[in-house]
Amino acid sequence: APDIRFRRDLPISPVLAPKKVDASGAHYEIEQREAKVSILPGVETTAWTYNGTFPGPTIRAKRGTPTILRCTNNLDTLTVVHLHGGRVPSESDGFPMDVILPKNFDNLAALCGPGTDLSKIQATIGNTRTYIYPNDQRAATLWYHDHCMGGAGRNTYMGLLGFYILEDEEEAGLSLPRGAQDIPIMIATRRLTRTGELEYQHHGHLGAGGGMMLANGAPWPRLAVERRKYRFRLLNADNSEPLELALEGDRPFVQIATDGGLLDAPVTLTRLPLAMAERVEIVVDFATCRAGETIIVRNLRGEGPLSEVMRFDVVGDSVRDEATVPARLSQIERLRPEDAVRVREFVFGAKPYFALRFPPIYWTINGNRFDPERVDAAPKYGDIEIWRFIRQKTIFPTMCHPPHVHLVNFQVLERDGKPPLPHERGWKDTAALEFDQSVTVIMRFDGYRGRYLLHCHNLEHEDHDMMARFDVV
Ligand code: C2O
Ligand code: CU
Repeated sequence: APDIRFRRDLPISPVLAPKKVDASGAHYEIEQREAKVSILPGVETTAWTYNGTFPGPTIRAKRGTPTILRCTNNLDTLTVVHLHGGRVPSESDGFPMDVILPKNFDNLAALCGPGTDLSKIQATIGNTRTYIYPNDQRAATLWYHDHCMGGAGRNTYMGLLGFYILEDEEEAGLSLPRGAQDIPIMIATRRLTRTGELEYQHHGHLGAGGGMMLANGAPWPRLAVERRKYRFRLLNADNSEPLELALEGDRPFVQIATDGGLLDAPVTLTRLPLAMAERVEIVVDFATCRAGETIIVRNLRGEGPLSEVMRFDVVGDSVRDEATVPARLSQIERLRPEDAVRVREFVFGAKPYFALRFPPIYWTINGNRFDPERVDAAPKYGDIEIWRFIRQKTIFPTMCHPPHVHLVNFQVLERDGKPPLPHERGWKDTAALEFDQSVTVIMRFDGYRGRYLLHCHNLEHEDHDMMARFDVV
């Protein structure tokens, strides 16, 4: 096969323009529809898209101005939109049963698949739904993706995902790289059939992957960079592959933010583990590079073609660079364990299930499969709690099960009794959970009351029941 690495330029998704901005907020419209996109040069691929692009358009929101997002489902399947990392009212959070119906369908039962209790489905009237995101939270790199009951893995794999960048004044007041030097990069693997179609294979709910590494929808792209600093917002949007990123030659880079926004202070790193759905923002300074130099972004956790992600191609003369990384980025309120009113444990494991499929298991939390009616935790509004995520010793030991909590951000207190890793010492909503590990986090349940989710962000595990409902009461 011809070498397709480093041929395409890194695509940058268009920024979605609001239809109007008024006293209630910025109004956006999104259509979920099939579209032909180009992943491989000269090959058309049918994707399920937000507004026709893969990945979807980037929403750039401002703290204090709510986003009013009107979604119209013109696909032939049920959809649900979730703002990952968003502090949003329960009705807008994208609970898996709160589906947007497709335009034309005659049989809901057929759409939902066997075994679905139709009385638990809360469908829209018609094929539109409006989500309200208050944007009352710190600047951060969030993302939106599908969260449909039993179908989040397939829908996201087929293309229903995009960046949501929230900005605020505190951050804008810093002199971080901006504009053309502030670049979101969404990393995900995909597999295409011989005719160029997306091939969703979930290996009996072990996790869908692919043989191609994509950045912003292009396989192993390149990005021409000037000899100055760049801010990269990295997202592992893959369904099931954890990453560990490094720059060629072990070139150091500076981490400035986690899932929930800026760290207190920058951290210098040479490798960066990034589990599914985690985000990290880094600044890379190309000032000392020679023009013509190339730097490959490696994935130390991947083999063969998956061991590389993209390439930076340094171009041009040295430039005057006004951007800096201040020694103090922000102030993070540290939640104190002595203020927590309770400790809950969540064991991520599996349960045997008698069926003619491989593997004959369901993924579970505390031994349970997801039931949208069962409340597995009911923290009180305003309370601080400590949650321990524990990894049951099951089959498939090398698998990563990243717990993700909706609504709130947490701080990692410890990992296996040791302090959190250097790259996870800020606000987070997702953390890696590897074989034989436990991760302890602390968080305050405020913002809104209502029904939310805790789940594994391997999307096939999520779809096959590694999910729990919690209610803030
Ligand atoms: Cu990124 Cu509940 O999801
Ligand atoms: Cu999992």
